[in-house]
Amino acid sequence: MATRMNQGAGDGSITEFWNGTIFENETKNELQKNGYNGHLINVCKEYPRNMVHIMNGHTYLNGHTSFSSVTKDIIESNGRILVEDGTLKANRNTTITPTNITKLSVIESDKFKLKESFEKPSLIITAIIHISFYILMFLGYLSQMLFPPKVVKEKSREGYPPLYDRFSSFYSRYVYRRVRDCWNYPICSVPGAEVTLKDRITRDNGWTFEFTGTQTKCINLGSYNYLGFAQATGPCAEYTIKILHEYGLSTGATRQNHGTCKVHIELEKLMAEFLGVDDAITVGMGFATNSLNIPTLFAPGCLVLSDEKNHASLILGIRLSGASVKVFRHNNMVHLEKLLREQIYKGQPDQPNNEYKPWNKIFIVVEGIYSMEGSIVNLPKVIALKKKYKAYLYLDEAHSIGAMGSTGRGVVDYFGCNPKDVDILMGTFTKSFGSAGGYIAGRKELVTYLRKYSYASKYATAMSPPLAAQIIAVLRILMGKDGTDEGKNRMDALARNTRYFRKRLAQIGVITYGNEDSPVVPILVYYYSKIAAMVRTLIKNKIATVGVGYPATPLLQGRIRICLSAAHTKEQLDYALDAIATVADELGLKYSRLPKDLAPIVYEET
Ligand SMILES: Cc1ncc(COP(=O)(O)O)c(C=O)c1O
Repeated sequence: MATRMNQGAGDGSITEFWNGTIFENETKNELQKNGYNGHLINVCKEYPRNMVHIMNGHTYLNGHTSFSSVTKDIIESNGRILVEDGTLKANRNTTITPTNITKLSVIESDKFKLKESFEKPSLIITAIIHISFYILMFLGYLSQMLFPPKVVKEKSREGYPPLYDRFSSFYSRYVYRRVRDCWNYPICSVPGAEVTLKDRITRDNGWTFEFTGTQTKCINLGSYNYLGFAQATGPCAEYTIKILHEYGLSTGATRQNHGTCKVHIELEKLMAEFLGVDDAITVGMGFATNSLNIPTLFAPGCLVLSDEKNHASLILGIRLSGASVKVFRHNNMVHLEKLLREQIYKGQPDQPNNEYKPWNKIFIVVEGIYSMEGSIVNLPKVIALKKKYKAYLYLDEAHSIGAMGSTGRGVVDYFGCNPKDVDILMGTFTKSFGSAGGYIAGRKELVTYLRKYSYASKYATAMSPPLAAQIIAVLRILMGKDGTDEGKNRMDALARNTRYFRKRLAQIGVITYGNEDSPVVPILVYYYSKIAAMVRTLIKNKIATVGVGYPATPLLQGRIRICLSAAHTKEQLDYALDAIATVADELGLKYSRLPKDLAPIVYEET
């Protein structure tokens, strides 16, 4: 029991009372005295080792009227019970009696409340989306039967199994090919507030493409240029060119073997200062920052609790590490806590004689902003859970660093959390910094360990010096070290653009996902055909967006994903919003049934 508690189930004196709470024996006795005997005995049978664990407050407590009013509203709030108006009613030392339990109505503290929406379409629309998808698949199979592919037939492979599985080849040839023109558009300019697309046509229904020799300049709603630092001119570009002249493009070696130069050291120091932690390590590629460092940190015998929407680089790193994984529902703190409790209770599986063996370590892996959902992690709650259960926290701020918080220090800054409460801070430089690469930051010991043992330090060529220079120049601006307000102005502009754009979309009546402060804005269009129609129509209107469908989203949740930027002007946003409103009318995309606030939306002045 003691071991189990040490790994994170809390200290022995805890007398909390929420959904799924573990009661200590003393508390159980206390409650039994107060009339909860019958209920507790039932639960005790499931969890015999001196603990009472209510697995699912709702299921168990249903029908127990004395609890129902409490459970309806119970949400864990960091060891406290709050009443409706948010005042502290009871704490760990409060004696729980039937009277005060039934009176308490627990609310979520404001700090943990997320301003997020994931509206579902009506049942009828859902049914039509399903039917249309089956029709699409049926037509695909028919077309495969009647018109087998000529251009891609494998030859001289007698006796070999096919390289691709049957569904992937069918799907990419007969479903994705129909709309292929909407993806992989080559660009021929800086991806700033505007971007120039290289025009192309297909003469064989998407099997092949030819360039026409013309170009289309569009408003760019598709690139991760949150702070507008994707620029070919200005102080960042100038410093980058200076470093290019000094160091060339590549170090031609790993960080451990003559690959470390002045800019790497400066960048890592500056990044740690920016984030408010001891130290940072940088890697030449964001994807590799996750996939090559996680296997150095996690190992078999560790448990990883991973958000279901985590990025492929995190999933790959976790898989390579050999750690055991449990996936929790997206940003669902109740599910995360349930898994934590269950797994701490169960420990490592398949032990000889069914002995209890605790997990060596437990890691919670989350992202700051989820790039397909536009949602923001419930960081205060994750931190509360990780502290309560003594788990480690790995936070990927790829999309949020620079883009969130009043000083651009990501979701940690946005929620006013302490960066030291996050054990492993990860992020990339491909988005807000207009460069490439990634970082891991945190305590000195962590970073020193990674410098020595990470695959990225040992085997991968160091970050290109001009890329490091671009990041340094951006950091100086964000931290005000350039002596201007430029950094602050850009962060404010992004926040302003985000609020304006999201509010206007809500008025148009389309369904958007995510947090009202998130610059990633998915517009749900559901159908494959509508993704294509919207991307094509918007390009005709000189607006570039990104369509996202299966397998990047669930099959029936096709969407247009818009990324806002500090570089967008109000005029550009208004033009894009008017075009989106027209397309939404033409294609029937106004699925939202939420009440609309029709008051004119004011674009906040600087
Ligand atoms: C959450 C997350 N982590 C890591 C990466 C990989 O970063 P990069 O594209 O810089 O290699 C991405 C890419 O978009 C991402 O969204």
